Amino acid sequence: MKQFFDEKSLKAFEGLTTPFYFYDLEVLEETLNAIKKAAADHPFKIHYAIKANANSRVLEKIKEHGLGIDTVSGEEVSCALEHGFEPKQIAFAGVGKRDDEIELGIDAGIFTFNVESLEELKVIQEIAEKKGKMVDIALRFNPNVNAKTHEYITTGLEENKFGINFWELDELFELLPKLDRLNLLGLHFHIGSQIRDLSVYKNLCNRVNQFQEIFRQRGYDLDHVNVGGGLGVNYEDPDAGMIPDFEEFFSIFKEFVKLYPGQSLHFELGRAVIAQSAALITKVLYVKKGIKTNFAIVDAGMTELIRPALYQAYHKIENISKGKEVEVEAYDVVGPICESSDCFGKRIKLPKTERGDLLAIRTTGAYGEVMSSNYNLRQNAKTIYKDEIH
Ligand code: LLP
Repeated sequence: MKQFFDEKSLKAFEGLTTPFYFYDLEVLEETLNAIKKAAADHPFKIHYAIKANANSRVLEKIKEHGLGIDTVSGEEVSCALEHGFEPKQIAFAGVGKRDDEIELGIDAGIFTFNVESLEELKVIQEIAEKKGKMVDIALRFNPNVNAKTHEYITTGLEENKFGINFWELDELFELLPKLDRLNLLGLHFHIGSQIRDLSVYKNLCNRVNQFQEIFRQRGYDLDHVNVGGGLGVNYEDPDAGMIPDFEEFFSIFKEFVKLYPGQSLHFELGRAVIAQSAALITKVLYVKKGIKTNFAIVDAGMTELIRPALYQAYHKIENISKGKEVEVEAYDVVGPICESSDCFGKRIKLPKTERGDLLAIRTTGAYGEVMSSNYNLRQNAKTIYKDEIH
């Protein structure tokens, strides 16, 4: 198994200010190659969900590999354009698009607005009319499919705010012919994130086929279906699961989605593309004995990585200053922020840990840096790329 940290990087870490995000772009390269291989020979188009990580070097590599971009804000659309993605590679979803974001997308001539409500359809029509432009759209539906993941990152149930609901179809079909500035290109779905039980995608495929059937019966000939993202990664054992199983993921769609002649199937993968390419490196400031446990107090906090505090997410933590020492103790690894939820892991077994040791919090390439905050007036962590210290 390839080691994520080689000797040279570990040596260089000793001279760096912590905390910092450490990226190995070779992992990203391998991941992108695996995606391309698994999706080859099918009319599949992959968009990268830029919300997962918008670092310039990450985006450059993704562009090199020819992926499109999935965005959920005007700022993300601008970021993709600034990084040289073609407007026609950019899809724009989101339940609450502001008027100025809609204008920006129209002016740029993006691929589609993935429209999430009937009211949004009317607003885009109005803005398009004012501009005298035609606008390409896809309709985001809520398929009511359980993604079997954390409730905060479940998006495809009727109780969730996302997408147009099944019961709104009659009203939708009445409205659509009146919207002469909108050009309906496709259907869009996204049921959630960090999906590990891939059988839920089979349920999504069945719903996709039903929706397609309904639209065909109404005489719509669609260019594409977009099934979103959500493919999960191996947080428990990153070294064993460095590259997600894209073959298995795509094979479900190959088998179960019925595409009509000329149609393509679009995906929006975020986490699976970039999560394993980075680790958050933090230094132990203090080790303190609690009543039930030891605390390893580190210099990164929920300000650098909020996933454990927000979703009780597990990230593997390693003491990279210590070798394979036999003496192991359990620690609650906590940050310096004045919140008890500022905890990266409880009862984590580590080699005997001391002030000055470096810990690596793994699998933090996705939804790590991008979700940082400046709470407690803290500065953002630095970004270090492996090839810069080699
Ligand atoms: N498409 C849409 C419309 C989305 O809303 C998302 C993610 C994706 C694609 C990409 O999903 P992925 O392939 O990355 O699972 N902050 C959370 C994850 C939030 C995901 C939001 N939407 C976390 O740290 O787990």
